[in-house]
Amino acid sequence: MILNNFVVFEGIDGAGTSTQLKILKSRPESSKIDFSAEPTDCETGKFLRQVLGGKVELDPKTTAYLFAADRAEHVYGKNGIINSIKNNKAVIIDRYLFSSLAYQGVSCGKELPRKLNEGFPLPQILFFFDIAPEKSLTRIKSRDVTEIYENNEYLTQTRKQYLDVIEEYKNLESAKDMKIIMIDATQSVEEISKIIWSHISKLPIFNS
Ligand code: TMP
Repeated sequence: MILNNFVVFEGIDGAGTSTQLKILKSRPESSKIDFSAEPTDCETGKFLRQVLGGKVELDPKTTAYLFAADRAEHVYGKNGIINSIKNNKAVIIDRYLFSSLAYQGVSCGKELPRKLNEGFPLPQILFFFDIAPEKSLTRIKSRDVTEIYENNEYLTQTRKQYLDVIEEYKNLESAKDMKIIMIDATQSVEEISKIIWSHISKLPIFNS
C-alpha cells in the first residue's frame, strides 16, 4: 500500500539527508508537514542508538527485529505516520524500511529484513541520496560520535545493497506508484534542495 503525502529520505551515513530536512523545516509550507526519523525518539529508538553507538552488542538478527519494532510504532503508534496523514499532514522522514533492507541486508542477509518489513506501507516519494562512501565518510569525520556502520567497507556494501533494493522496487507491482528519485548527493546543498522541492511541492497536500 502507498501512503499519499508520505516521503522518505534514504542514503548511506553522511549522504546529507539531515541537512535537507533542516532546509525543508525552515520553509513556510512546513506547517503542513510532520517531520521525523528512524531510529525514533521512542524507547525502542533510544535503545537502538545504544546499539549503534556500540554500547550494547547484539546479534545482527536481533538488531533487525528491533528496527522493525521501532518502525511499527512509528507507523501505527498514537502519534505515528498513519495518524499524521489522517490528520491531513504530509510526513517526511529520515530513513525507513529501505535502511533495514540495505544495512541489515548486509549484516544478516536479505531474507530476514525482507520478511520483517514486507507489511509496512510505502511512501509516495522515495529520495535516494547517492554518494561514494569515501566522500560521505569525510563529512562524518567532523562529528564527535561515530556509529558501528560508519566505515568504508560496510558502507560500500550497504550502498550496493541499496542500489539492488531500489532496482527490485522499480519492478515491483505493489510499488509501481512509488516515485523513486535518485539524487546525486555530491551536488551543492542549494541544488539538491531545489530538486527536492520541485518534487515535494507536487504532493497532493500542496495542490488541493
Ligand atoms: P543516522 O540517524 O545518523 O542516519 O543513523 C542511523 C543509523 O542507523 C545509520 O547508520 C543507519 C542505521 N539504520 C539501520 O541500520 N537500519 C534501519 O532500519 C535504520 C532506520 C537505520
